[in-house]
Amino acid sequence: MTTIAENWGVHKDQFWLRGEFPAEPVGFEAETGAWNVYGHAESLKTLSDPKVFSSDTARLIPKEMSPEKDQFTEGNLLQMDPPDHKKLRTLVSHAFTPKVVADLEPRIAALTNELLDAVDGADSMELVTHLAYPLPVIVIAELLGIPASDRDLFKEWVDTLLRNSQKRSLIEQTEADRKAAEETREQVTNLVNYLGEHVDDRRKNPREDLLTKLVEAEVDGVKLTQNEVVNFANVLLLAGHITTTMLLGNTVLCLDSHPDEYRRVREDRSLLPSAIEESLRFLSPFALVARATTTEVELGGRTIPADSMLFTWVAAANRDPRTFTDPGIFDPSRAHNPHLAFGRGIHFCIGAPLARLEGKTALNILLDRFPDLRTDPAVPPSFIPSPHMTGVNELQLLLKP
Ligand code: HEM
Repeated sequence: MTTIAENWGVHKDQFWLRGEFPAEPVGFEAETGAWNVYGHAESLKTLSDPKVFSSDTARLIPKEMSPEKDQFTEGNLLQMDPPDHKKLRTLVSHAFTPKVVADLEPRIAALTNELLDAVDGADSMELVTHLAYPLPVIVIAELLGIPASDRDLFKEWVDTLLRNSQKRSLIEQTEADRKAAEETREQVTNLVNYLGEHVDDRRKNPREDLLTKLVEAEVDGVKLTQNEVVNFANVLLLAGHITTTMLLGNTVLCLDSHPDEYRRVREDRSLLPSAIEESLRFLSPFALVARATTTEVELGGRTIPADSMLFTWVAAANRDPRTFTDPGIFDPSRAHNPHLAFGRGIHFCIGAPLARLEGKTALNILLDRFPDLRTDPAVPPSFIPSPHMTGVNELQLLLKP
């Protein structure tokens, strides 16, 4: 068996999910004006050398295509390079200690049970609506200190962002590109205005929450600006839920479509963490990360000029046959799984421990409560309609024998 992903309606550009791998691990795409990195070793190089592969990619995006630089990028860890990156990351790491994350376990378990109570006794459920979306968004909203009851509001904004996250040329913009950029700007503005009001409130009324910690935090004796607090909170809100929603849906789909593995994991829950890691490799939620070269550089046998946009396709690297034996096989017992789904190096996902904990806790409860859980063969899964993500958007499940 190679891959069954082609039957799932995944995005047509994600060729690695069809068991294909390019002969060249690095290539230039004339249509978009960007370089694509697909190989695992080459991806690692781009993630491990921020001096050459900078995260400040906004400078290479045509002005009419990008949300206002500074207004939206200040404080966005994902777009920062050393030394500023280190200062903010150190500060934020104080709020995301292993203890803070571990202490969330009972709350994650209680929320999962509460969400599943709503489908108790039902014959079927749609996983994303009932569990995979609300759980991570409530957890991150509660951590930040914003009302989780506003989640339908952010869902509307975030769905538009995801829909507009499409392949775009850096060379020539179409009317559709300009419209998408405008809509993206609008939705990011909605998000930062919303968060800005909560940040203003926390300056006057401090609470025991992450927004208050960010408002009060100091880096080298200097406090974060309003833009920095708001943009960082925005990254946490977005990164903190979209990807974990995908992780939960993808893992259920991977298990369901591999019955022997599913049975083994069900019977021996100690296998669940490695099944989650394998799901992250097999269907990587964030398919790519972007970098900008600061100097001319050799990579994968190609010479990349300075100031080039580079897309490191971690989802493809996670299927590189030079690194992974039988990459198209979902194998939770894989002995060596150096997947890049959470990135690597200085930008390694700060929320990885939280995502792993949410995955393990929620899936354990789901399997306990619904021993006959399986996908509904009459309703095929659907995926987020963006080449930049690999994640279940809808997954209909049958709950009874
Ligand atoms: C960074 C993936 C969950 C917050 C990253 C990066 C990846 C990633 C690939 C590296 C980006 C780069 O190198 O440019 C994922 C996946 C997740 C997940 C697949 C779930 C399955 C979370 C959660 C949070 C979070 C739950 C917050 C609570 C962040 C932040 C960064 C980041 C703040 C930026 C770190 C930095 O630049 O130093 N994530 N993430 N992520 N992630 Fe996650």
